[in-house]
Amino acid sequence: MHKGRSVFRCTECGADQPKWGGKCDACGAWNSLVEEPVAKRRMGGSPDRQMGGGGGSPSDNPPIRLSAVTETPATRWRTGLAEFDFVLGGGIVPGSVTLVGGEPGIGKSTLLMQCAARLERQGIATLYVSGEESPDQLRLRADRLQEDAGGIHVLGETRLESIIHHATQLKSSVVLLDSVQTTYTEELEGAPGNVGQVRECAARLMRFAKESGPAVLLVGHVTKGGGIAGPKTLEHIVDTVLYFEGEMTLDHRILRAVKNRFGSVDEIGVFSMTGSGLEPVANPAAAFLAGRSTGASGSAVTALMEGTRPMLVEIQALASKAGFGTPQRVATGLDHRRLALLLAVLERRGGLPFGNLDVFVNVTGGVRLIEPSTDLAVLAALVSTVHDRPVPADALFLGEVGLGGEIRPVAGVERRLAEAARQGFRRVFLSARSRGPANNGDLEVIGLEGISELTRRLAA
Ligand code: TYD
Ligand code: MG
Repeated sequence: MHKGRSVFRCTECGADQPKWGGKCDACGAWNSLVEEPVAKRRMGGSPDRQMGGGGGSPSDNPPIRLSAVTETPATRWRTGLAEFDFVLGGGIVPGSVTLVGGEPGIGKSTLLMQCAARLERQGIATLYVSGEESPDQLRLRADRLQEDAGGIHVLGETRLESIIHHATQLKSSVVLLDSVQTTYTEELEGAPGNVGQVRECAARLMRFAKESGPAVLLVGHVTKGGGIAGPKTLEHIVDTVLYFEGEMTLDHRILRAVKNRFGSVDEIGVFSMTGSGLEPVANPAAAFLAGRSTGASGSAVTALMEGTRPMLVEIQALASKAGFGTPQRVATGLDHRRLALLLAVLERRGGLPFGNLDVFVNVTGGVRLIEPSTDLAVLAALVSTVHDRPVPADALFLGEVGLGGEIRPVAGVERRLAEAARQGFRRVFLSARSRGPANNGDLEVIGLEGISELTRRLAA
């Protein structure tokens, strides 16, 4: 067979380079270029230009005035898995392509199988295509889920042309493809899973969805390091990207929308993995507080915003006398530079010496703190462990800490406080400069100017 031309494609950003190099010129990543064959057959323009859908001869799709575009009714298919529907922005949009990414074993196939079963029971025709598991294995999974999944069509296939053919024949409304890395198109040379194949398959499914109307849900594996041909290169192509995350050792799984053409991003859904599949968590705001030991020192609770939703998380700190050498600073779920900064502020502005103490800070539930609004809670946990005195169990801490030791207000205070009150918290420490009600219903609001006030209050 004639070997086609090839390009070098970056596995991080998907950019093409004419020749190999150690570094991608587009995104600066090292060692990310892999050789990819170019499409065997071209249908006008470069393969990349075909990607957003359309294609074909120029007269196929003439420009029209925006006002002449017919409004499509805003239907959405609700799966009934409440947290999944919420993250999508209200359900699956017909004609959309959604990528569900995550590490192997996190629960992507389980989630899709549950969706398929629930949609099929509402009379929405589903086709579950698996290139990873045989129909027998799918059956075993479905039995384990205790969902009536008997009505869904399953197909063990990896060739894209055949998948589209069967989906068209069956008039499937929702096509679930597990996974995009095992699918290949005849149009390209190269093994399934390489960047070119993965991108071309996604682009063709996108065109199929837009032209024929079914919704497509794609599974994409990501490895810890970002992975070769990882879904990162697909994010530009598809409509919606959801990432499934969680600590494998914990039951909680978080589904996060990182891109959503039909809803807001940064929304999360919380599930727990049970013996019979994924179950939406009923009270997600408090999901990460489960197992909190309220009497112990070195623990403080704060409220983060995940999209539009406040979530309560516990921060634990432990300071103990260091042995010889440099004291240890270990941060889990928190940037270690942020911890170093907070320790320096606490030492210089709060008069608490950490010079000969090992310090460990941990955010429970596998949560990662990104917002600086959690600073005050980290400080409260540190002060509490140094004095070995628990903070009040019903106290919430909200505030960013500056280098001068000043405590700054955070955004979205009302929503965070309302959630805290609902979860049984009775007092909140925050910046004295926070705007908003002095006392918020059942919550006593304690305004602080700086961290010396915090240390004084916690010692009292
Ligand atoms: P799976 O959906 O196969 O993960 P992925 O498709 O992301 O690779 O599920 C992974 C894990 O979930 C697997 O280790 C078994 C566990 N599991 C349950 O705990 N309960 C269940 O009902 C199912 C189906 C799986
Ligand atoms: Mg799987």
